[in-house]
Amino acid sequence: MRAVVYTESGDSSVLEVVERPVPEPGRGEVRIRVVRAGVNPTDWKFRAGGMGELAFPEIVPGQDGAGIVAAVGPGVTDLAVGDRVWTMLAQHTRPGGTAQEHVVLPTANVTVLPDAASYDLGASLGVPAVTAHRALTTSEDGPDRLAPGALDGMTVLVSGGAGAVGNAAIQLARWAGATVISTVSSPEKAALAAAAGAHHTVDYREADVVAAVREVAKDGLDLVVEVAPAQNLRSDVRLIRPRGTIAIYANNGGDEVTLSVRETFSTNARFQWVLLYTVGQEALRAAAEDITAAVADGALGVGEEHGLPLHHYPLAEAAQAHAAVEGGAVGKVLLDVGDVRAE
Ligand SMILES: NC(=O)c1ccc[n+]([C@@H]2O[C@H](COP(=O)([O-])OP(=O)(O)OC[C@H]3O[C@@H](n4cnc5c(N)ncnc54)[C@H](OP(=O)(O)O)[C@@H]3O)[C@@H](O)[C@H]2O)c1
Repeated sequence: MRAVVYTESGDSSVLEVVERPVPEPGRGEVRIRVVRAGVNPTDWKFRAGGMGELAFPEIVPGQDGAGIVAAVGPGVTDLAVGDRVWTMLAQHTRPGGTAQEHVVLPTANVTVLPDAASYDLGASLGVPAVTAHRALTTSEDGPDRLAPGALDGMTVLVSGGAGAVGNAAIQLARWAGATVISTVSSPEKAALAAAAGAHHTVDYREADVVAAVREVAKDGLDLVVEVAPAQNLRSDVRLIRPRGTIAIYANNGGDEVTLSVRETFSTNARFQWVLLYTVGQEALRAAAEDITAAVADGALGVGEEHGLPLHHYPLAEAAQAHAAVEGGAVGKVLLDVGDVRAE
């Protein structure tokens, strides 16, 4: 089978396509024939060496994917050959991610994909939607699970709603009943955030964000899903209502921030730091279940009409796909790995 691998850190040119034997699943594992693999910023950050030394001598990148179960290992009862599935955190503690024709994973990292959902959607869920789920489910007065009505009456600000995580946060928050405001940097991105379901968009390059958000959220925000804390935390603190939560999942635009302690503690707000790799199995399982329910409800989608334009690359062009994500592609970058025939 074909696999994309790297054996040293570096730019996208360290990625090469090689032939490897088809792996067999062990106890509690399944082998998935990958149809589509998602590419996320974390993939190039690991490859580039920004997350430390390589944990394995040879790595197949890719946390996210969608495909068909092709073999099950001993003890597997909840998945069967032929099941259509989506994956999460495929490569985190293992050398073999989703940028290959077959991937072996523990069943905990694999979830059945609802019938109506495309492989494009399945491969776009993992990192973005699980991150968004975590960000939306940690507030003091809010729910720890998402479902229709769970966020009724709550107002959520999604920072950078045209990003992949921002898009998932908007769609999930809408599904759960929130009023959603999103910041964006251009009219084109405002259109994408609105297509995802944002009720209101604010161009942070043009408008006074605090004033514009206050106009809509007069009592303040219940939740903020923040991608660029260095730039936005001070305004988030001014907008959060007492006991609200600011969930921070990235350091886009800078790694350090200075806050006024007095202004911040007077909010009684929480800062919820979010990193998928340390979030814990229980939160991952809850996210997988709720995200799959949203997909089954038709509430999560991909493509321009859902605010997430798709960019397809053949497996052999994985390096170009990584470079596109690293270069800030707007929307979702996918690798076309295999065809969709049934097993
Ligand atoms: N903690 C975790 O577990 C976790 C999980 C997933 C992703 N991440 C990280 O989260 C980041 C985003 O991932 P992604 O896949 O969503 O990437 P993406 O699709 O490239 O989106 C990045 C978004 O950040 C927005 N942004 C940058 N500066 C901003 C600012 N000052 N205010 C508002 N928005 C701003 C951009 O919007 P504009 O162009 O409009 O500014 C863009 O929409 C990456 O750094 C990624 O590594 C972390």
